[in-house]
This record gives sequence, structure tokens and C-alpha cells, in this order.
Amino acid sequence: MIDPKTKQVNWPRAAVVYQIYPRSFRDTSNNGIGDLEGIIEKLDYLNDGTEESLGIDAIWLTPVYKSPMVDFGYDVSDYNDIDPVFGDLKVFDKLVEEAHRRNIKIIMDFVPNHTSSQHPWFIESRSSRDNPKRDWYVWRKPKSDGSPPNNWLSVFGGSAWTYNKKTNQFYLHSFAKEQPDLNWHNFEVKDAIKQAMRFWLKKGVDGIRMDAVYWLAKDRKFQDDPPNPNYQEGVTDPYEGLLHTRSRNQQEMFDFLNELGAVIADYPERFMMTEAYPEKRIDVGEYMRFYKNYNNKIAAPFNFEMIYLPWKADAYKRFIDDFQAALRPGDLPIYVLGNHDRSRVASRLGTQQACVAAMMLLSLPGLLFIYYGEELGMKDTAVPQDKVRDPWGKGSPSFNFGREPVRTPMQWNSQKYAGFSEVNPWLPVANDYKEINVESESADSRSILNLYRKLIHFRKSSAAFLKGEYYPLGINNKQIFAFIRGHESEKILVLLNFSKEEQKMTLNFKKAKIVYNTQLDKEFGSEIDMKNLSLRPHEGYILNIS
Ligand code: GLC
Repeated sequence: MIDPKTKQVNWPRAAVVYQIYPRSFRDTSNNGIGDLEGIIEKLDYLNDGTEESLGIDAIWLTPVYKSPMVDFGYDVSDYNDIDPVFGDLKVFDKLVEEAHRRNIKIIMDFVPNHTSSQHPWFIESRSSRDNPKRDWYVWRKPKSDGSPPNNWLSVFGGSAWTYNKKTNQFYLHSFAKEQPDLNWHNFEVKDAIKQAMRFWLKKGVDGIRMDAVYWLAKDRKFQDDPPNPNYQEGVTDPYEGLLHTRSRNQQEMFDFLNELGAVIADYPERFMMTEAYPEKRIDVGEYMRFYKNYNNKIAAPFNFEMIYLPWKADAYKRFIDDFQAALRPGDLPIYVLGNHDRSRVASRLGTQQACVAAMMLLSLPGLLFIYYGEELGMKDTAVPQDKVRDPWGKGSPSFNFGREPVRTPMQWNSQKYAGFSEVNPWLPVANDYKEINVESESADSRSILNLYRKLIHFRKSSAAFLKGEYYPLGINNKQIFAFIRGHESEKILVLLNFSKEEQKMTLNFKKAKIVYNTQLDKEFGSEIDMKNLSLRPHEGYILNIS
């Protein structure tokens, strides 16, 4: 299936992507919900071609398709249309045009595993057992005692099966019951999904983020998932009570993904990135399985470990050294610190640590993602219980999984509603918005926003960062994560103090010039004495050692 003639897609090879959660970015229609016009309005903030703007290369939009919004767009009811809350196809075309005019690529989220239960396909499918679309979804008869066909669980809580009285069968939903799983063994389903992808690729979309790919291929015999021996009832998510060795992640998934990859490869310079959280942590082999099964010229998996690794220099060093060493030529690493499903990095680690993490991220090879607001140090924001509509939050209430806290409105300025909207937004604005916002941080030369800007622009100007290899560096200090990036004569040393103590050391490099430190209080280009190095608590350095 993997066509060796495919050309390598170049634009993502060292690009920085900005993930936008459209509901929360900028509301121009004054209904409290962000929209596509709002994104267009803010494109200059993202990249206006000058060093004043953030300088990102691409934006990823979480789903903006027509949807009843049970899972906020991950329940698609029409793959070929924009939900009216966000705009329409005309505004979308304008967004593509305006983004491309600024050299910003567009990545669409795409949901191949399930549709909304309101999608016309499912409405037909559930109408009768002999409907032509019956087999488009996964229907099974109850066990003899009337219980679900097997023990598979929904990620959002409870059984993955819901009973349909009219036809006396259960349908499968790996997520909410309003998100029935498509049957990937049905050829018409695959064709319909490919058609939908083509619709957006023809519109000029540059990349596709494939959602929840582990679930595309389940055990064909529908055997039970085995119990997880390490599960602690009442302590961890009930979903972890089983090992999901049958309900997802069968090798066949790669056949399906490569078929989708072949669609991508029909269009020049398009790339596919896939979402799969390995069951075990720091499982380099599981990530490599994706690379080995993909055509790496056009596809790569997200690496999510930075969301989970303990904030320890040696843990990061070990994982990143191992991961980078395992990649083959042409494999593109994709690193992220957060996204719309996980706690924000500044909340997980603290703001100073988040600055060190940003310096690390933006110095690594590959395709890097920034989640909107990360560049401001935005934090998780408590959301009152009556505002929690996330199916993950509602499905497992005692585990407090609602993802609303990481999806609150973007903080643009210190005016009412943080400049997000003129009216009360769909989720509350964070209390700290008067200090943490684009306007005030732009005015503060040492803010985290200015750190992000400088690091992104430096990355664009440095051959070592754009094209260079990653070289692990062993130093005699367990609190410091150090590595080198180099291309031809340019060599850059990155030193990151993960601890809250000052760290002193001596390094054997003849000369070193400061590019940036995380505090942004050292002069660009000034020499630093490598014999008497001292890193303040939570301080990172990028040094030119060419
Ligand atoms: C992915 C998305 C998440 C969504 C789920 C179901 O994990 O990132 O937001 O709820 O898939 O589509």
C-alpha cells in the first residue's frame, strides 16, 4: 500500500503549529462563541510577516463541521459543511485564502472513527435491520440475557454499547452514545470518508489531524477486553479497568490509515498527523510501530509523552534521547506540551517551568504544536458544575474529567471578557486575564509571550534548528537537560535547568554566545564563561557554540 514514489512533504519538517479551539478564540458574531471570522481577524497576531507577531507556520482547527456539539464538534453530522455557529463554507474559503496569504498553512481535524448520531447515515442505519446503511455502523445482537455483546467500555464512561429497542440490537460507540462508531470493514464507509477528505483537500487544506485512530480497527471476533491487573478501583479512571487489547489498536488500523494516507498523497504537499495515546507510558516502541507502518513522507504520529513525563531533567533526557535515536531518516517527530484534552502546561508545571518547557519544545527537531494561550501562560480555569457539558466530565463525574477548564476564552486584553467577545462567553474567562493577556504581555519585554515570539523567530533563522541533527549531551548534572543541535558549521547548545535551585557547572566548550535565556534578561550575542556556568532556578539557555 505504501507507494515508494510519493514525494516527501516538506512544509512540516520544522514547522510550528498553533492549535486553535475555535469556540474559544475570538467571537465576532457576539453570541459568546468563537467563529471563523474571529480567526481571520487574529491571523496577523499569529503571523503578519514581522517579528512583532508570533511567527507560527500553521494553524490546526479542532472540528468546525456541522455538529450537534455533544462532544463539541467531534460528533460530525455533515462532513461537507461548516457548523453555522462558526460560519459557512464561504468564510472558510476566505480563511484559507487569508491564511495562505500570510504563509500560514491550515490543518483540519478529521474524525474518521465515528459520526454524530444525528448524521443522516446513522439515522438511516438505525431505522431498520435491512436498511442499506445498516452495515455502515457496528450493530450486534444482545447476549442471551439481554446484556451488551461484550465488555468493551466507552472512553467517556460506561459500556461502549447502547441498545436500540426498535431493531433489538446494540450499536457500538467508543466515545459518547451520540458518537456511533463507523464500520471500517464496509467499503462504502471508507469511500464516503475518503470523499469527505478530498472535499477539504481540494479547498486547499494543507494537513489533516486524524482523530482517535486507535479505534478504527477492533477485534473482528468482538472478544472481551481482558482486565487490567494494575487497575485500582476508585483511584483511576474506570476505563482503565480493562486493557484495551481487543476494542482498539488492531494491526489492521494501519491498512485503513494508509488508505487515507494515499488520499493525502494524491495532493501535493499535504501531511497527515495521527492521534493515538499509547496504553503504556514512554513506550518508544509503540510510537515506532506507527512510523514503521506509515509512509513517513506524508504521515507521522503525535508524541504525547511531554504531557505525562515527571518534570525531571533526567526523565526528559532519557525519553527524548531514546525517541530521537529510534527515528529513522525521514521520520518526523511531532512534539506537544498540551492540547484541548489535557491540563494546560502552566497548570501542570508552573509558569516558570512552562518557560523552560517552551524553550525545550521550540529547540527540538520536527513539527511542534502550541495550544492556544500556552504562549501567554494561560492556566486551567475552574468552571462551575452547571457549565460542564463535556461528555467526558458527565460520564465519569467523580473523576472530574470535564475538559472545559482547558478550553476557556483566549485572553486578548484586559477589557471585559478579555477582548474575546462583547457578551458573556460560553465558558468563563480566567480570573487572571487582566495580567495574562496578549496586550499586556506584548508590552512587557520579558513576558512568556515575548519568549515564545523570540524562540519561534530564532528557530526560523537558524539552520541548526531548521535542518540540524539532534545530539544528546551527557553532562555532570542531573538537574540539567542538555542537548546540541547542529547543521554544517552552526552548533547550538541548549541547557535547561529543571530544578528550583541554582545550578553551577563547567562545560568544555571553548566559546559560547548567548542567544536567549528564558528570563530574557541577557544580551543577545554576549559571551558566556563556560568554565563558570551558573543557571538560576528554572532558567534555560540557548547558546551558540559554533
Ligand atoms: C480525540 C479528541 C477529543 C474527542 C475524542 C473523540 O481524543 O481529541 O477531543 O473527544 O477524540 O472524538
